[in-house]
Amino acid sequence: MNYRECLVNVAPYVPGKNEEEIKKEYGLDKVVKIASNENPYGPTPNIKEYLNGINFSVYPDNYMSNLRSKLSNKLNVNEEKLLFGNGSVEIIQMISRAFLDKGDNIVTQLPSFSSYFSEAKIQDAEIRTIKYNENYSFNLNEILDLIDEKTKIVYITNPNNPLGTVVTKDEVYDFVSKVPNNVLVVIDEAYFEFVRNENYVSGIELMNEFRNVCVLRTFSKAYALAALRIGYIVAAEEIITNLEKVRVPFNASTIAQKCACIALDDETYMKDSVGLIHKTIDYIYERLDKLNIEYIKTQANFIMINVNGASKEAVLKLMKKGFIVRDGFPLMDNWIRVSIGTLQDMEEFLKVFSEVV
Ligand SMILES: Cc1ncc(COP(=O)(O)O)c(C=O)c1O
Repeated sequence: MNYRECLVNVAPYVPGKNEEEIKKEYGLDKVVKIASNENPYGPTPNIKEYLNGINFSVYPDNYMSNLRSKLSNKLNVNEEKLLFGNGSVEIIQMISRAFLDKGDNIVTQLPSFSSYFSEAKIQDAEIRTIKYNENYSFNLNEILDLIDEKTKIVYITNPNNPLGTVVTKDEVYDFVSKVPNNVLVVIDEAYFEFVRNENYVSGIELMNEFRNVCVLRTFSKAYALAALRIGYIVAAEEIITNLEKVRVPFNASTIAQKCACIALDDETYMKDSVGLIHKTIDYIYERLDKLNIEYIKTQANFIMINVNGASKEAVLKLMKKGFIVRDGFPLMDNWIRVSIGTLQDMEEFLKVFSEVV
């Protein structure tokens, strides 16, 4: 891997031991922590009524032990292959900080997730892009053509945002086997839980064979914890060790860690809600087919709809009727992106859509 040279001189933050560790290590019943300038009286008791059991006055667990151990079991990966972020965007920032210098480049597709671009720019790196293929999917062969000795990162968004399409298992294997093994391949699986395509494979399955492959996931989408900002990366230990060097200490809050654990303990709830979203997507397909409107079949929880060149107007008209949708994606001038709401909301949306667009 090609880490920034300055990282050789950077050590990851090493926090002091927490009370429980000290109690265990020294066989003590009580430990008073007066080492990190925390307030022993805690915040207003009103907060505690809402979030019983959380200790607000101490910093979060910097190692994120409970969440780490739960995820390591769930994904069947070593705990040291995980690192958490204040949302997965923060991990994209860490990756960029760790890998990109002026003169380096990243390669990805347009359109895909905007943070790859903004973070690369902050690092003064060059951004190389290709256009999607005829299936609105990642054009992996063209990505290969753009990789050179200055390429540090390739981003594959799978499923892609905003297009909603996936690259299949065979395509991913073929691609990764051709990427030089000192180029980091980031497979962003923010929408992993929504995928129905049977030919899909998670990048995690490739990681033993290809140590330059890593996977980004988030609790913001299927687990519905976007407000709490928590995401993670699965990568080889060497990559994690270097990302730790640029990670801000205590970056994921105690509440975020705790709620992510609770969410993982209730996967049935998440799967049921994904099931409802799938039903709603099928309903939307049916309705759009009837209206003879072009759309891109989606493997995520949003759908791209072609509004025939009038995307700004469509967005405004829909907004006036109470529906906020997105347009303005590069190379997708005629399209709007609509996130999948409840079946009832989408029925109403389609009614309004057919009237105004
Ligand atoms: C493809 C993709 N990656 C990453 C993210 C960032 O998610 P978060 O920072 O909430 O984990 C998003 C959010 O929309 C996304 O669409």
